[in-house]
Amino acid sequence: MSSADVLMTSRSFAEYRAMFALDDHDLGGVILDCGGGASGFVAEAAAAGARALAADPLYARGAAVLAERLPLDLEQAAAMITANADRFVWEWYGSARRHREMRLNAGSAFVADLRRRPGSYLAAGLPYLPLADRSVDLVLCSHLLFTWTGRFGQEWHRAAIAEMSRVCRGEVRIFPLVRMGDAEPVAFLDALRADLRAEGLVCEVREVPYEFQRGANRMLTVGRRP
Ligand SMILES: C[S@@+](CC[C@H](N)C(=O)[O-])C[C@H]1O[C@@H](n2cnc3c(N)ncnc32)[C@H](O)[C@@H]1O
Repeated sequence: MSSADVLMTSRSFAEYRAMFALDDHDLGGVILDCGGGASGFVAEAAAAGARALAADPLYARGAAVLAERLPLDLEQAAAMITANADRFVWEWYGSARRHREMRLNAGSAFVADLRRRPGSYLAAGLPYLPLADRSVDLVLCSHLLFTWTGRFGQEWHRAAIAEMSRVCRGEVRIFPLVRMGDAEPVAFLDALRADLRAEGLVCEVREVPYEFQRGANRMLTVGRRP
């Protein structure tokens, strides 16, 4: 998948907190947002006193190009959601207006932070990350793995998770576990978990206090066997 053919999305720090069931302990270490896109997580985490960085091939395009493209992408994403409203659950946001506001604010925070602190945004694509072994405490991956199983197969997922685990001292958390569009569960999840187990990684599926895409309320956590 090239980053050019995916709409940029701007999930907020609040959405990340819920999608990944983040608590104060989680926010105390260095966090990598992998496939960060235009998410406001890094910017808003810094404002809240946490240390975070993001990786995405998209960042190679530079702040000016991304800032120009983002409003259009957010409009298209919102229109796609409106056109498929029955595929979404609105309780967490309360209203479509609140959802839109959060995404716009997160997008603005991303653009401002990318301009001010470009070093926090690594132009890099899985399954390769330009980071040392065990250099971050927590890796978060939102709406990339599993979401795009039409484009990425089981072996790519294995390599991507192994790479995120390599750079991580703690846990890798991946959300959601269903495909974009039809929200179907990923057919190879059990086989993938067996592959990861064979590499000494322990996977767990955990429910989280967030659901927007109907049926998407679980994350995969991956840690090292003690
Ligand atoms: C749907 S967006 C999700 C963005 C953000 N995590 C969020 O939740 O709002 C998927 C992101 O994955 C990025 N991406 C595509 N291929 C990637 C790869 N090989 N490694 C890392 N990120 C990739 C895309 O550029 C895009 O920004």
